Amino acid sequence: MAPLLAAPASSSPKLCRSWRVLLGLLALLVAVDLSAADMYSEIELVWGASRTFFFMDGDSEALALSLDPWQGSCFRSREKYLYVQVDVEIKLIQGDSAGTVCTIYMISEDPWEIHDEIDLEFLGNVTGQPYTLHTNIFANGVGGREQQFRLWFDPTADYHTYSIVWNPKHILILVDGKAIRDFKNNEDQGVPFPTWQSMRTFGSLWSAEDWATQGGRIKTDWSLAPFVGYYRNYNATWCRPSPGVAWCGDEPKSSTRFDLDQKTLADLQWARANQMIYNYCTDAVRFNATTLPKECTLQ
Ligand SMILES: *[C@@H]1O[C@H](CO)[C@@H](O)[C@H](O)[C@H]1NC(C)=O
Ligand SMILES: *[C@@H]1O[C@H](CO)[C@@H](O)[C@H](O)[C@H]1NC(C)=O
Ligand SMILES: *[C@@H]1O[C@H](CO)[C@@H](O)[C@H](O)[C@H]1NC(C)=O
Repeated sequence: MAPLLAAPASSSPKLCRSWRVLLGLLALLVAVDLSAADMYSEIELVWGASRTFFFMDGDSEALALSLDPWQGSCFRSREKYLYVQVDVEIKLIQGDSAGTVCTIYMISEDPWEIHDEIDLEFLGNVTGQPYTLHTNIFANGVGGREQQFRLWFDPTADYHTYSIVWNPKHILILVDGKAIRDFKNNEDQGVPFPTWQSMRTFGSLWSAEDWATQGGRIKTDWSLAPFVGYYRNYNATWCRPSPGVAWCGDEPKSSTRFDLDQKTLADLQWARANQMIYNYCTDAVRFNATTLPKECTLQ
């Protein structure tokens, strides 16, 4: 199936359809083993559908998103969640990806003014230069909580697992099972935290050449289009409440079940020391010491 990967995403819709039928049949045949690997049953295309294609990548059904000078592409989860762990494997654009942004994020629906959002954005770069993993968290419509990380591997060489863990006490971002970011629920200290609006997962590939790469100095080389990023093994696991508790939001405040374990704490410390390249909480130029966001002094 390799030649298909190299084909422009704008290959004729008819071809696309017959491939899908074929792959659908294939997926049906092995459905018993593939319940969680079936991307198509979990997600739907939102825009740029003609620039996407599903294909079997090893044992998994994968989705390719592509971007050309006219449009990118985007999918979202069919379901909305309130407290969940979402894992997805992503293989980023190979070679020169300057100006492109590949994302996986969760966001609540209307009203926008008070929306919640958890963002992972992979900012492309020129060949040989590292991607930046840009993260942000909005609660009650307010974001500005950017943290950026370098990855400790080449994210274009293979799939890696990126996860969002959202429970009543923490939002964690994990890479290959290692926690790199924690946003703690400090509502009792007056810091908003997403606790009541359900969110959907989105994945997208789009162009942000005016700011993404080296502050926008490096533009996209459109002669290399289409740019293609791959997603597979989307796995959303609802937060499971303790026995006798109706849902995770009802866990008693005294419950310790969402407390971070030693490994998570050690991973967070490691990521902060070695992989973090920007932290809004230490941006003295942007925030006057007196106006640092409140959570920065709490965690
Ligand atoms: C999905 O994620 C959950 C929670 O991490 C895990 O227990 C489960 O094994 C995963 N399912 C698959 C098919 O990977
Ligand atoms: C791209 O590479 C340059 C040089 O290594 C680096 O400064 C920059 O942070 C990288 N990422 C982006 C998104 O510009
Ligand atoms: C930062 O705080 C100092 C002292 O409170 C004040 O004089 C200065 O104008 C502030 N600067 C900005 C950019 O808010």
